[in-house]
Amino acid sequence: MNETLKIINSRRSTRAFSDRSLSNEEKEMIYQATFRAPSAGNMMLYSIIEVEDQALKEKLVETCDNQPFIAKSPFVLVFLADYQRWWDYYQVSGAQAKAMELKRPSRQPQVGDLMLSCCDALIAAQNAVIAAESLGIHSCYIGDIMENYEIHRDLFNLPKYTFPIAMLCFGFPKHEKIKSELTPRFQPQYIVFKNQYQRLDQEKFQQMYFHLEGKFMKIDPPPNGAENVGQHNYLRKFTADFSFEMSRSVAVMLKNWSNE
Ligand SMILES: Cc1cc2nc3c(=O)[nH]c(=O)nc-3n(C[C@H](O)[C@H](O)[C@H](O)COP(=O)(O)O)c2cc1C
Repeated sequence: MNETLKIINSRRSTRAFSDRSLSNEEKEMIYQATFRAPSAGNMMLYSIIEVEDQALKEKLVETCDNQPFIAKSPFVLVFLADYQRWWDYYQVSGAQAKAMELKRPSRQPQVGDLMLSCCDALIAAQNAVIAAESLGIHSCYIGDIMENYEIHRDLFNLPKYTFPIAMLCFGFPKHEKIKSELTPRFQPQYIVFKNQYQRLDQEKFQQMYFHLEGKFMKIDPPPNGAENVGQHNYLRKFTADFSFEMSRSVAVMLKNWSNE
């Protein structure tokens, strides 16, 4: 296996960081790799907020579903889907006036633009993860940054056409010896389809979970009553408070984004 594949295949999320901070050179290398990510139309439809302020990190612990390790991370990056920069540039560059002159249609940023910006932001974020990993710096995504939209908007002074789609906590692992076992994944035949989407039936689900059921249950003991991974996940994730909050938060952002 080559070095790139080794890094990708041995990566695991780390949530316990040592006190060691990243050097400026290490940060630079991570940023450089981040910016080399592919980008729709090469527009770089994202921005990054480096959270340096410890008080702000502590606040994010609270607003991101009470995850204390956020405050222990020496390098925290919030990835914003960002159409605002281009929208502002369109104003500054007289783009709408030019379109009118040419009798071309005009519009505001819409949900499709948001989706594209999210793609750019997440692809860039994953480049950062892999670059960091190659330097021995571990990381963990925080999806809960999509919650509490109004609070995060005020905390980071976010304009209308931006949205924090992911946060990354980086750091050197606290424990020298990391658990060797990687988290399990589904087998490829349930994930990769040839030519057409395949919905799974009960039998397929049973096969799909057969080799994982024991592992999942062991990693994360099920709440009372859950008899399988489906029930466990529904109770623990899908109907958890954070899921309701995430949906509420994203709905507020969407309304704001598409309110012309
Ligand atoms: C979009 C996204 C959001 C995530 N959010 C969180 C989070 O809020 N807290 C956390 O501890 N891990 C979070 N994770 C990490 C996942 O739990 C982790 O990737 C998954 O359990 C698989 O484990 P592995 O990365 O070690 O292979 C997130 C991962 C992704 C891709």
